[in-house]
Amino acid sequence: IYQQKQDDYELMAQISRFFQQQLKVSTDKDTAIKYLKGRGLSGEIVKRFGIGYISDAWDGMMNSFSRNGQANQQLIDLGMAVAGDKKRPYDRFRGRIMFPISDKRGRVIGFGGRVLGDAKPKYLNSPETRIYHKGQELYGLHEAKQANKKLKRLVVVEGYMDVVALAQHGVDYAVASLGTATTFEQLQTLFRTVPNVVCCYDGDRAGRDAAWRAMDNALPLIRDGFSLKFVFLPDGEDPDSLIRAQGQQAFEKILDNAMPLSKFLFEQLMQQVDMSSLEGRAALVESFQPFLAKLPDSILKDAMINEIANNFGTGSEQFLAKFTKHIKGGL
Ligand code: GTP
Ligand code: MN
Ligand code: MN
Ligand code: MN
Ligand code: MN
Repeated sequence: IYQQKQDDYELMAQISRFFQQQLKVSTDKDTAIKYLKGRGLSGEIVKRFGIGYISDAWDGMMNSFSRNGQANQQLIDLGMAVAGDKKRPYDRFRGRIMFPISDKRGRVIGFGGRVLGDAKPKYLNSPETRIYHKGQELYGLHEAKQANKKLKRLVVVEGYMDVVALAQHGVDYAVASLGTATTFEQLQTLFRTVPNVVCCYDGDRAGRDAAWRAMDNALPLIRDGFSLKFVFLPDGEDPDSLIRAQGQQAFEKILDNAMPLSKFLFEQLMQQVDMSSLEGRAALVESFQPFLAKLPDSILKDAMINEIANNFGTGSEQFLAKFTKHIKGGL
């Protein structure tokens, strides 16, 4: 199995080099280069992220990599070829800008491919394979570590282009959670790498929902000294569009002013109740319980409990004792 995996990594590395080379040699390379330039990317950044291209054909990659039945099966297993019902397997990725996804050791384990125009799907991603488990990987983490000897914080964004555009403008510490909501495993990896994480998702409904889910997934990991914050971008903006419009300084200022997890939680829960009635305030106190129950014991947790008791409870010793018991007991 070990040998097989080494072989898989080697093949993925070769394919990644092939896609990068296609940006230099394919007949329609000018279209791809024009697209990347149009998105504000320099040759240096394209190289740093190993971005490549594959023309729109059924066998652009397979022509170079299909040798025998065993090789074809490996390409299918790695998600690079599709068995289909044709005589031989064909390319999964066709007519796309190719973003290699590396694991934290820098080994290519999958790809994301973007169409150059408006075709659907806009992005095609590698399926789960024996070396690629998407809920566990973070796009750009290896590159961020390479660019920074000492990482102080990481920014989590939604898309490949967000990571690359931020790096293009000097924010070389962004990672993307690869299409899914940021998972517990991904947050675990983030907090093993740095104590400060800022989520900066798109300024739309999906982005706000993603922030809420990330907050919920992160709660068990928030110990004293670890901070998760949130940036809410204006509607219609994403990190890529924002940094292109406003530049590095403005963007980093937004990161510096991100909303702490506790504030996000309080604001969201307060929105759901009628704060002018006792019933509403009682429901609010109750609604904190499942979230606080997930937080490990910490100074922050105690502070949050006090805040709730003082602002929305009676503030009395009895209330505090009862509420604390309620949380710890998980009732
Ligand atoms: P650009 O249009 O290139 O700027 O991409 P974006 O990252 O801004 O796209 P969007 O905000 O629509 O989506 C965010 C992320 O969700 C993308 O980077 C992809 O990882 C994923 N995604 C977007 N569209 C698709 C799709 O059609 N299929 C899949 N599987 N994932 C997608
Ligand atoms: Mn898996
Ligand atoms: Mn979006
Ligand atoms: Mn976006
Ligand atoms: Mn975008």
